[in-house]
Amino acid sequence: MRRKAFALVLVQAVLAAAIAQGQVSGVSPTRKETTIRNLTEETVRYTIRRLIRDSQPTVRYLKPNALDRWPCETPLDITFDRPGQQIDYRLECGLPYTFRYDADDNLELYSGSHGLFGVADLAPFVPTPMVVVDKMLELGGVGEDDFLFDLGCGDGRIVITAARKFGTRGVGIDIDPQRIDESIRGAKEAGVGSLVEFRLQDVMKAEIRTATVVTIYLLPESNALLRPLLEAQLKSGTPVVSHNYSIPGWEEKEVDYVTLQDGTGQEHTIFVYRR
Ligand SMILES: C[S@@+](CC[C@H](N)C(=O)[O-])C[C@H]1O[C@@H](n2cnc3c(N)ncnc32)[C@H](O)[C@@H]1O
Repeated sequence: MRRKAFALVLVQAVLAAAIAQGQVSGVSPTRKETTIRNLTEETVRYTIRRLIRDSQPTVRYLKPNALDRWPCETPLDITFDRPGQQIDYRLECGLPYTFRYDADDNLELYSGSHGLFGVADLAPFVPTPMVVVDKMLELGGVGEDDFLFDLGCGDGRIVITAARKFGTRGVGIDIDPQRIDESIRGAKEAGVGSLVEFRLQDVMKAEIRTATVVTIYLLPESNALLRPLLEAQLKSGTPVVSHNYSIPGWEEKEVDYVTLQDGTGQEHTIFVYRR
């Protein structure tokens, strides 16, 4: 989940080509909704335009933590500013998006958000590639006697893989009901339903005291938010394995750091800490 991989692709050229080829007329007439959430601390000004003939751009001011809903039948083009730079993206109709800061503290629009109010949106769903899952389990020293917690478990692959390979018991927690359904189905298919449990819950309110190893794949600011919970509940020495992002404030606790490539050549970093 490198930040750039979360980010949308610049689309001005694509937009021009799509309009030229008349692709915009081929969309489904089903009414859907694109949502845009602001998880930054500033009011974001953006301009949005529907991809239909004669559509006029609308200027919006989105306050911190606010959510805009855009009913749509076609993609939407969005423009926002960074200092000295205008950013243009095309949004897919029906998907959720989030304004966040990138690693350089620039305003960025990311795809994905659970869109709930009053619950920290710690990261959109991006699954860890299996080769990275295997390495995370290896670096965490996960074995039969462990009790693994994956905080923000997505489709449950980390917990399910540990159970399948080592017989590890585990709990996956996610705020998205679709992810929990996928996880339960995946565990059943893998024949490990009796070893694992999936909870629909905000991880910020989770009870994780029984964990002997923890995995996370969340954004850096989310790792910072989660740190007090890890410190309050985990036993000293518990391995915490984080995909791609470090845990701010735990520099002293870092015991390993590995970079590897997935099948597409993309690089992933794994940070290993001991609480
Ligand atoms: C990048 S995905 C990681 C999925 C999985 N751990 C993996 O590595 O393949 C992050 C997950 O965190 C979930 N998430 C975001 N905010 C959350 C919260 N407050 N509580 C629980 N889960 C959350 C998202 O729904 C998403 O599935």
